[in-house]
Amino acid sequence: MKLDNPLTGSMISLDEWWMPFTANRHFKAAPRLLAKADGMYYWTPDGRQILDGTAGLWCVNAGHNRKPIVEAVQKQAATMDYAPPFNLGHPVAFEAATAVAAVAPEGMKRVFFTNSGSEAADTSIKIALAYHRAKGESSRRIVIGRERGYHGVNVGGTMAGGIPGNRKAFPALMSGVDHIRATHDLARNAFSRGQPAHGAEFADELERLITFHDASNVAAVIVEPMAGSAGVLIPPKGYLEKLRAICDKHGVLLIFDEVITGFGRLGAPFAAQRFSVKPDLLNCAKAINNAAVPMGAVIVNNEIHDAIVNGAPAGQIEFLHGYTYSGHPLACAAAVAAQKLYVDEKLFERARAMEPVFEAALHSLKGARHVIDIRNLGLVGGIELEPRAGGPGKRGIEAHIKCFEAGALVRFTGDILALSPPLIVEKEQIERLVDTIRGVLQAIE
Ligand SMILES: Cc1ncc(COP(=O)(O)O)c(C=O)c1O
Repeated sequence: MKLDNPLTGSMISLDEWWMPFTANRHFKAAPRLLAKADGMYYWTPDGRQILDGTAGLWCVNAGHNRKPIVEAVQKQAATMDYAPPFNLGHPVAFEAATAVAAVAPEGMKRVFFTNSGSEAADTSIKIALAYHRAKGESSRRIVIGRERGYHGVNVGGTMAGGIPGNRKAFPALMSGVDHIRATHDLARNAFSRGQPAHGAEFADELERLITFHDASNVAAVIVEPMAGSAGVLIPPKGYLEKLRAICDKHGVLLIFDEVITGFGRLGAPFAAQRFSVKPDLLNCAKAINNAAVPMGAVIVNNEIHDAIVNGAPAGQIEFLHGYTYSGHPLACAAAVAAQKLYVDEKLFERARAMEPVFEAALHSLKGARHVIDIRNLGLVGGIELEPRAGGPGKRGIEAHIKCFEAGALVRFTGDILALSPPLIVEKEQIERLVDTIRGVLQAIE
Protein backbone atom coordinates (compact mmCIF):
# COMPACT_ATOMS: atom_id res chain seq x y z
CA MET A 1 0.00 0.00 0.00
CA LYS A 2 1.24 3.48 -0.85
CA LEU A 3 0.48 6.83 0.78
CA ASP A 4 1.13 10.40 -0.13
CA ASN A 5 3.55 12.12 2.26
CA PRO A 6 2.43 15.76 2.26
CA LEU A 7 5.60 16.80 4.11
CA THR A 8 7.90 15.78 1.26
CA GLY A 9 5.55 15.44 -1.67
CA SER A 10 6.78 11.87 -2.22
CA MET A 11 4.98 8.57 -1.92
CA ILE A 12 5.70 6.24 0.98
CA SER A 13 5.17 2.50 0.97
CA LEU A 14 3.68 0.92 4.07
CA ASP A 15 4.66 -2.63 3.15
CA GLU A 16 8.26 -2.92 4.30
CA TRP A 17 8.13 -1.75 7.93
CA TRP A 18 6.92 -4.70 10.01
CA MET A 19 5.54 -2.68 12.87
CA PRO A 20 6.10 -3.69 16.50
CA PHE A 21 3.21 -4.55 18.85
CA THR A 22 0.79 -3.54 16.08
CA ALA A 23 -1.99 -5.34 14.25
CA ASN A 24 -0.17 -4.67 10.98
CA ARG A 25 -2.94 -5.50 8.51
CA HIS A 26 -5.56 -3.61 10.48
CA PHE A 27 -3.29 -0.60 10.90
CA LYS A 28 -2.11 -0.45 7.30
CA ALA A 29 -5.69 -0.59 6.06
CA ALA A 30 -6.34 2.71 7.90
CA PRO A 31 -3.00 4.13 9.09
CA ARG A 32 -2.67 6.78 11.78
CA LEU A 33 0.55 8.69 11.17
CA LEU A 34 2.37 11.33 13.17
CA ALA A 35 4.74 13.68 11.41
CA LYS A 36 5.61 16.53 13.74
CA ALA A 37 5.65 17.27 17.46
CA ASP A 38 6.09 20.20 19.78
CA GLY A 39 5.35 20.67 23.47
CA MET A 40 2.06 18.93 24.30
CA TYR A 41 1.12 18.21 20.69
CA TYR A 42 1.66 15.99 17.69
CA TRP A 43 0.58 16.80 14.16
CA THR A 44 -0.47 14.30 11.51
CA PRO A 45 1.10 14.58 8.03
CA ASP A 46 -2.01 16.45 6.85
CA GLY A 47 -1.65 18.98 9.66
CA ARG A 48 -4.21 17.80 12.22
CA GLN A 49 -3.20 18.62 15.80
CA ILE A 50 -3.27 15.75 18.33
CA LEU A 51 -3.06 16.46 22.06
CA ASP A 52 -0.53 14.03 23.51
CA GLY A 53 -2.19 12.32 26.47
CA THR A 54 0.48 9.64 26.73
CA ALA A 55 3.84 11.48 26.55
CA GLY A 56 4.52 9.45 23.40
CA LEU A 57 4.80 6.03 25.03
CA TRP A 58 5.16 7.16 28.66
CA CYS A 59 8.49 8.72 27.79
CA VAL A 60 8.46 12.36 26.69
CA ASN A 61 8.09 13.75 30.20
CA ALA A 62 9.25 17.30 29.40
CA GLY A 63 7.09 17.55 26.29
CA HIS A 64 8.22 17.29 22.69
CA ASN A 65 11.15 18.85 20.87
CA ARG A 66 12.45 20.75 23.85
CA LYS A 67 15.10 23.17 22.65
CA PRO A 68 17.88 22.42 25.19
CA ILE A 69 17.65 18.69 24.40
CA VAL A 70 17.45 19.18 20.63
CA GLU A 71 20.47 21.48 20.69
CA ALA A 72 22.49 19.16 22.94
CA VAL A 73 21.93 16.26 20.54
CA GLN A 74 22.73 18.39 17.50
CA LYS A 75 25.93 19.67 19.11
CA GLN A 76 27.04 16.20 20.17
CA ALA A 77 26.35 14.75 16.71
CA ALA A 78 28.55 17.42 15.19
CA THR A 79 31.32 16.93 17.80
CA MET A 80 31.61 13.18 18.17
CA ASP A 81 28.99 10.87 16.72
CA TYR A 82 30.09 7.67 18.37
CA ALA A 83 32.74 6.31 20.73
CA PRO A 84 33.25 2.68 21.81
CA PRO A 85 32.33 2.12 25.46
CA PHE A 86 34.49 -0.99 26.00
CA ASN A 87 37.82 -0.01 27.56
CA LEU A 88 37.37 3.56 26.33
CA GLY A 89 35.28 6.32 27.82
CA HIS A 90 33.98 9.73 26.85
CA PRO A 91 33.08 12.64 29.10
CA VAL A 92 29.40 12.93 28.31
CA ALA A 93 28.70 9.32 29.38
CA PHE A 94 30.23 10.00 32.80
CA GLU A 95 28.26 13.25 33.02
CA ALA A 96 25.04 11.44 32.14
CA ALA A 97 25.66 8.76 34.79
CA THR A 98 26.33 11.47 37.38
CA ALA A 99 23.13 13.30 36.42
CA VAL A 100 21.04 10.13 36.71
CA ALA A 101 22.71 9.11 39.99
CA ALA A 102 21.94 12.58 41.39
CA VAL A 103 18.20 11.80 41.46
CA ALA A 104 18.56 8.11 42.35
CA PRO A 105 17.74 6.87 45.86
CA GLU A 106 20.41 7.10 48.58
CA GLY A 107 23.19 4.58 48.22
CA MET A 108 22.23 3.74 44.62
CA LYS A 109 24.82 5.70 42.72
CA ARG A 110 26.20 3.32 40.10
CA VAL A 111 24.68 3.39 36.63
CA PHE A 112 24.96 0.77 33.88
CA PHE A 113 23.73 2.11 30.53
CA THR A 114 21.61 0.12 28.11
CA ASN A 115 19.62 1.23 25.07
CA SER A 116 16.13 0.31 26.15
CA GLY A 117 13.97 -0.83 29.01
CA SER A 118 14.10 -4.40 27.71
CA GLU A 119 17.87 -4.37 27.86
CA ALA A 120 17.70 -2.87 31.33
CA ALA A 121 15.51 -5.81 32.44
CA ASP A 122 17.93 -8.42 31.16
CA THR A 123 20.92 -6.49 32.47
CA SER A 124 19.43 -6.23 35.95
CA ILE A 125 18.76 -9.98 36.06
CA LYS A 126 22.36 -10.65 35.01
CA ILE A 127 23.67 -8.25 37.66
CA ALA A 128 21.58 -10.02 40.30
CA LEU A 129 22.99 -13.42 39.30
CA ALA A 130 26.53 -12.04 39.11
CA TYR A 131 26.13 -10.53 42.56
CA HIS A 132 25.11 -13.80 44.19
CA ARG A 133 27.94 -15.60 42.41
CA ALA A 134 30.40 -12.97 43.66
CA LYS A 135 29.08 -13.59 47.18
CA GLY A 136 29.58 -17.34 46.84
CA GLU A 137 25.87 -18.10 46.42
CA SER A 138 25.72 -19.17 42.82
CA SER A 139 22.78 -21.50 43.48
CA ARG A 140 20.59 -18.39 43.65
CA ARG A 141 19.26 -18.36 40.09
CA ILE A 142 15.47 -18.26 40.23
CA VAL A 143 13.82 -14.97 39.31
CA ILE A 144 10.34 -14.22 40.54
CA GLY A 145 8.17 -11.83 38.56
CA ARG A 146 4.50 -10.97 38.87
CA GLU A 147 1.47 -11.75 36.75
CA ARG A 148 0.63 -8.85 34.43
CA GLY A 149 4.19 -7.54 34.84
CA TYR A 150 5.90 -6.09 31.77
CA HIS A 151 9.66 -5.97 31.53
CA GLY A 152 10.08 -5.60 27.80
CA VAL A 153 10.66 -8.22 25.18
CA ASN A 154 14.18 -9.60 25.54
CA VAL A 155 14.70 -13.07 26.93
CA GLY A 156 14.89 -12.26 30.65
CA GLY A 157 12.15 -9.67 30.52
CA THR A 158 9.84 -11.90 28.49
CA MET A 159 10.19 -14.76 30.95
CA ALA A 160 10.06 -12.67 34.12
CA GLY A 161 7.15 -10.75 32.62
CA GLY A 162 3.64 -11.85 33.42
CA ILE A 163 1.58 -11.11 30.32
CA PRO A 164 0.50 -14.51 28.96
CA GLY A 165 0.21 -13.38 25.34
CA ASN A 166 3.79 -12.13 25.33
CA ARG A 167 5.12 -15.40 26.72
CA LYS A 168 3.06 -18.12 25.13
CA ALA A 169 5.03 -18.52 21.90
CA PHE A 170 8.35 -18.77 23.74
CA PRO A 171 8.08 -21.57 26.28
CA ALA A 172 10.98 -21.63 28.74
CA LEU A 173 13.41 -19.41 26.88
CA MET A 174 14.80 -18.92 30.34
CA SER A 175 14.22 -21.57 32.96
CA GLY A 176 13.87 -20.83 36.63
CA VAL A 177 11.16 -18.18 36.77
CA ASP A 178 8.03 -18.05 38.84
CA HIS A 179 5.34 -15.45 39.42
CA ILE A 180 3.33 -13.97 42.24
CA ARG A 181 -0.20 -12.86 41.48
CA ALA A 182 -1.11 -9.38 40.26
CA THR A 183 -2.48 -6.86 42.72
CA HIS A 184 -5.56 -5.90 40.73
CA ASP A 185 -8.71 -6.32 42.83
CA LEU A 186 -11.69 -4.60 41.29
CA ALA A 187 -14.14 -6.04 43.79
CA ARG A 188 -12.51 -4.25 46.71
CA ASN A 189 -10.62 -1.35 45.13
CA ALA A 190 -12.69 0.02 42.23
CA PHE A 191 -12.52 3.81 41.86
CA SER A 192 -9.67 4.17 44.38
CA ARG A 193 -7.93 7.52 44.36
CA GLY A 194 -4.18 7.01 44.70
CA GLN A 195 -3.01 3.81 46.37
CA PRO A 196 -5.84 1.32 46.94
CA ALA A 197 -6.56 0.37 50.53
CA HIS A 198 -6.82 -3.39 50.04
CA GLY A 199 -4.28 -5.96 48.90
CA ALA A 200 -1.04 -5.64 50.90
CA GLU A 201 -1.49 -9.34 51.67
CA PHE A 202 -0.93 -10.23 48.00
CA ALA A 203 2.77 -9.81 48.84
CA ASP A 204 2.59 -12.83 51.15
CA GLU A 205 2.64 -15.04 48.11
CA LEU A 206 6.28 -14.08 47.71
CA GLU A 207 7.02 -15.63 51.08
CA ARG A 208 5.29 -18.80 49.92
CA LEU A 209 7.22 -19.00 46.63
CA ILE A 210 10.58 -18.31 48.23
CA THR A 211 9.92 -21.03 50.78
CA PHE A 212 8.71 -23.37 48.05
CA HIS A 213 11.84 -22.92 45.91
CA ASP A 214 14.06 -22.50 48.97
CA ALA A 215 15.67 -19.12 49.49
CA SER A 216 19.10 -20.54 48.66
CA ASN A 217 17.89 -20.88 45.05
CA VAL A 218 16.16 -17.52 44.62
CA ALA A 219 18.14 -14.62 43.15
CA ALA A 220 15.71 -11.77 42.70
CA VAL A 221 12.19 -10.47 42.52
CA ILE A 222 11.37 -8.08 39.70
CA VAL A 223 8.25 -5.92 39.74
CA GLU A 224 7.07 -2.63 38.37
CA PRO A 225 6.27 -0.59 41.50
CA MET A 226 3.24 0.57 39.50
CA ALA A 227 2.39 -1.72 36.60
CA GLY A 228 1.86 0.39 33.50
CA SER A 229 1.65 -1.65 30.33
CA ALA A 230 -0.84 -4.17 31.70
CA GLY A 231 -3.29 -1.39 32.49
CA VAL A 232 -2.17 0.94 35.31
CA LEU A 233 -2.21 -1.22 38.42
CA ILE A 234 -1.39 0.91 41.46
CA PRO A 235 0.26 -0.92 44.39
CA PRO A 236 -2.02 -1.29 47.40
CA LYS A 237 -0.94 0.49 50.55
CA GLY A 238 1.73 -1.49 52.39
CA TYR A 239 2.30 -3.95 49.51
CA LEU A 240 5.72 -2.78 48.34
CA GLU A 241 6.91 -2.47 51.94
CA LYS A 242 6.00 -6.12 52.44
CA LEU A 243 7.84 -7.22 49.30
CA ARG A 244 10.91 -5.36 50.57
CA ALA A 245 10.73 -6.98 54.00
CA ILE A 246 10.33 -10.49 52.55
CA CYS A 247 13.29 -9.99 50.20
CA ASP A 248 15.42 -8.74 53.10
CA LYS A 249 14.47 -11.69 55.25
CA HIS A 250 15.64 -14.16 52.59
CA GLY A 251 18.63 -12.36 51.04
CA VAL A 252 16.74 -11.98 47.75
CA LEU A 253 17.38 -8.87 45.64
CA LEU A 254 14.46 -6.59 44.84
CA ILE A 255 14.47 -5.12 41.32
CA PHE A 256 12.12 -2.25 40.58
CA ASP A 257 11.34 -1.81 36.92
CA GLU A 258 10.84 1.95 36.77
CA VAL A 259 10.92 2.28 32.99
CA ILE A 260 7.54 4.04 33.19
CA THR A 261 7.58 5.39 36.73
CA GLY A 262 11.08 6.89 36.53
CA PHE A 263 11.82 10.59 36.18
CA GLY A 264 8.84 12.27 37.68
CA ARG A 265 5.88 10.29 36.40
CA LEU A 266 4.63 9.75 39.96
CA GLY A 267 5.62 13.19 41.24
CA ALA A 268 9.02 12.10 42.58
CA PRO A 269 12.23 11.18 40.76
CA PHE A 270 11.36 7.49 41.10
CA ALA A 271 8.53 5.41 42.55
CA ALA A 272 11.13 4.24 45.08
CA GLN A 273 11.09 7.72 46.60
CA ARG A 274 7.37 8.23 46.18
CA PHE A 275 6.67 5.03 48.14
CA SER A 276 9.78 5.22 50.38
CA VAL A 277 10.72 1.68 49.41
CA LYS A 278 14.26 1.25 48.12
CA PRO A 279 15.04 -1.57 45.69
CA ASP A 280 18.50 -3.08 45.18
CA LEU A 281 18.46 -2.54 41.43
CA LEU A 282 16.35 -0.01 39.57
CA ASN A 283 15.67 -0.22 35.85
CA CYS A 284 14.90 2.88 33.85
CA ALA A 285 14.72 4.07 30.23
CA LYS A 286 12.23 6.26 28.33
CA ALA A 287 12.27 9.63 30.15
CA ILE A 288 15.91 9.18 31.15
CA ASN A 289 16.63 11.50 28.21
CA ASN A 290 13.08 12.51 27.35
CA ALA A 291 13.13 9.73 24.73
CA ALA A 292 15.13 11.83 22.28
CA VAL A 293 17.55 8.95 21.55
CA PRO A 294 17.11 5.29 22.63
CA MET A 295 18.52 4.81 26.11
CA GLY A 296 18.03 2.82 29.29
CA ALA A 297 19.95 2.12 32.47
CA VAL A 298 20.18 -0.05 35.54
CA ILE A 299 20.82 1.96 38.67
CA VAL A 300 22.71 -0.21 41.10
CA ASN A 301 23.13 -0.17 44.85
CA ASN A 302 26.76 0.73 45.57
CA GLU A 303 27.32 -2.40 47.64
CA ILE A 304 26.12 -4.66 44.84
CA HIS A 305 28.38 -2.87 42.39
CA ASP A 306 31.32 -3.15 44.77
CA ALA A 307 30.75 -6.85 45.46
CA ILE A 308 30.99 -7.59 41.73
CA VAL A 309 33.65 -5.06 40.76
CA ASN A 310 35.93 -5.32 43.79
CA GLY A 311 35.44 -9.06 44.00
CA ALA A 312 37.09 -9.73 40.63
CA PRO A 313 40.83 -10.21 40.19
CA ALA A 314 42.71 -6.96 39.39
CA GLY A 315 42.93 -6.17 35.70
CA GLN A 316 40.11 -8.55 34.75
CA ILE A 317 36.81 -7.42 33.24
CA GLU A 318 34.49 -7.78 36.23
CA PHE A 319 31.14 -8.07 34.46
CA LEU A 320 31.16 -9.51 30.95
CA HIS A 321 28.17 -7.62 29.67
CA GLY A 322 27.50 -4.45 27.67
CA TYR A 323 26.24 -3.11 24.37
CA THR A 324 27.94 -1.41 21.42
CA TYR A 325 25.70 1.54 22.16
CA SER A 326 25.94 1.56 25.98
CA GLY A 327 26.45 5.21 26.83
CA HIS A 328 26.01 6.36 23.23
CA PRO A 329 27.21 9.97 22.99
CA LEU A 330 23.96 11.27 21.48
CA ALA A 331 21.81 9.48 24.06
CA CYS A 332 24.03 10.73 26.87
CA ALA A 333 24.00 14.31 25.61
CA ALA A 334 20.21 14.14 25.56
CA ALA A 335 20.20 12.66 29.08
CA VAL A 336 22.37 15.43 30.52
CA ALA A 337 20.16 18.08 28.90
CA ALA A 338 16.91 16.37 29.91
CA GLN A 339 17.96 15.91 33.53
CA LYS A 340 18.93 19.59 33.68
CA LEU A 341 15.60 20.59 32.18
CA TYR A 342 13.70 18.48 34.74
CA VAL A 343 15.51 20.31 37.53
CA ASP A 344 15.34 23.80 35.96
CA GLU A 345 11.60 23.53 35.39
CA LYS A 346 10.95 21.56 38.61
CA LEU A 347 8.97 19.10 36.55
CA PHE A 348 8.86 16.30 39.13
CA GLU A 349 7.43 18.72 41.68
CA ARG A 350 5.05 20.02 39.05
CA ALA A 351 3.74 16.52 38.43
CA ARG A 352 3.03 16.17 42.15
CA ALA A 353 1.31 19.56 42.25
CA MET A 354 -0.89 18.68 39.25
CA GLU A 355 -1.86 15.29 40.67
CA PRO A 356 -5.04 16.48 42.45
CA VAL A 357 -6.18 18.34 39.32
CA PHE A 358 -5.55 15.26 37.20
CA GLU A 359 -7.23 12.99 39.75
CA ALA A 360 -10.36 15.14 39.96
CA ALA A 361 -10.70 15.38 36.19
CA LEU A 362 -10.16 11.68 35.70
CA HIS A 363 -12.64 10.63 38.38
CA SER A 364 -15.28 12.90 36.84
CA LEU A 365 -15.58 10.03 34.34
CA LYS A 366 -17.17 7.86 37.03
CA GLY A 367 -20.64 7.06 35.76
CA ALA A 368 -19.63 7.64 32.12
CA ARG A 369 -20.79 4.97 29.72
CA HIS A 370 -18.84 1.63 29.88
CA VAL A 371 -16.56 2.76 32.76
CA ILE A 372 -16.11 0.13 35.49
CA ASP A 373 -13.02 1.52 37.23
CA ILE A 374 -10.80 4.58 37.38
CA ARG A 375 -7.40 4.60 39.05
CA ASN A 376 -4.64 7.15 39.29
CA LEU A 377 -1.34 8.12 40.84
CA GLY A 378 0.99 10.98 39.96
CA LEU A 379 0.29 11.81 36.34
CA VAL A 380 -0.86 8.31 35.40
CA GLY A 381 -4.47 7.35 35.02
CA GLY A 382 -6.26 4.16 34.04
CA ILE A 383 -9.87 3.93 32.93
CA GLU A 384 -11.17 0.39 32.76
CA LEU A 385 -14.05 -0.27 30.40
CA GLU A 386 -16.50 -3.11 30.56
CA PRO A 387 -15.42 -5.59 27.87
CA ARG A 388 -17.86 -5.96 24.99
CA ALA A 389 -19.71 -9.27 25.15
CA GLY A 390 -17.82 -11.74 22.98
CA GLY A 391 -15.14 -9.21 22.02
CA PRO A 392 -12.75 -8.35 24.82
CA GLY A 393 -10.36 -5.56 23.81
CA LYS A 394 -12.55 -4.30 20.95
CA ARG A 395 -13.98 -1.42 22.95
CA GLY A 396 -10.49 -0.37 24.02
CA ILE A 397 -9.02 -0.14 20.55
CA GLU A 398 -12.13 1.53 19.20
CA ALA A 399 -11.95 4.16 21.93
CA HIS A 400 -8.26 4.74 21.13
CA ILE A 401 -8.98 5.21 17.42
CA LYS A 402 -11.97 7.49 18.00
CA CYS A 403 -9.98 9.62 20.46
CA PHE A 404 -7.25 9.94 17.85
CA GLU A 405 -9.81 11.02 15.28
CA ALA A 406 -11.10 13.54 17.82
CA GLY A 407 -7.57 14.95 18.32
CA ALA A 408 -6.31 13.20 21.47
CA LEU A 409 -3.73 10.47 21.93
CA VAL A 410 -4.92 7.96 24.53
CA ARG A 411 -3.29 4.58 25.09
CA PHE A 412 -5.15 1.30 25.44
CA THR A 413 -4.33 -2.15 26.82
CA GLY A 414 -7.21 -4.48 26.15
CA ASP A 415 -10.20 -2.54 27.47
CA ILE A 416 -8.18 -0.29 29.75
CA LEU A 417 -7.45 3.25 28.59
CA ALA A 418 -4.31 4.85 30.00
CA LEU A 419 -3.32 8.48 30.30
CA SER A 420 0.20 9.68 31.10
CA PRO A 421 0.58 13.20 29.71
CA PRO A 422 3.89 15.07 29.64
CA LEU A 423 4.59 16.66 33.01
CA ILE A 424 4.13 20.12 31.46
CA VAL A 425 0.42 19.47 30.91
CA GLU A 426 -1.97 22.31 31.78
CA LYS A 427 -5.36 21.98 33.49
CA GLU A 428 -7.25 22.87 30.29
CA GLN A 429 -5.41 20.15 28.41
CA ILE A 430 -6.26 17.58 31.08
CA GLU A 431 -9.89 18.64 30.80
CA ARG A 432 -9.78 18.38 27.04
CA LEU A 433 -8.40 14.84 27.25
CA VAL A 434 -11.09 13.80 29.69
CA ASP A 435 -13.88 15.46 27.70
CA THR A 436 -12.69 13.75 24.54
CA ILE A 437 -12.79 10.37 26.27
CA ARG A 438 -16.25 11.10 27.70
CA GLY A 439 -17.59 11.99 24.25
CA VAL A 440 -16.03 8.94 22.62
CA LEU A 441 -17.38 6.56 25.29
CA GLN A 442 -20.83 8.02 24.79
CA ALA A 443 -20.55 7.45 21.03
CA ILE A 444 -19.16 3.91 20.87
CA GLU A 445 -21.03 0.70 21.56
C1 LIG B 1 7.99 -1.36 32.93
C2 LIG B 1 8.62 -1.54 31.59
N1 LIG B 1 9.74 -2.25 31.47
C3 LIG B 1 10.36 -2.42 30.31
C4 LIG B 1 9.84 -1.86 29.16
C5 LIG B 1 10.52 -2.10 27.86
O1 LIG B 1 11.15 -0.96 27.41
P1 LIG B 1 11.62 -0.84 25.90
O2 LIG B 1 10.38 -0.85 25.06
O3 LIG B 1 12.40 0.44 25.87
O4 LIG B 1 12.50 -2.02 25.62
C6 LIG B 1 8.68 -1.10 29.22
C7 LIG B 1 8.10 -0.48 28.02
O5 LIG B 1 7.06 0.08 28.03
C8 LIG B 1 8.05 -0.94 30.47
O6 LIG B 1 6.91 -0.25 30.59
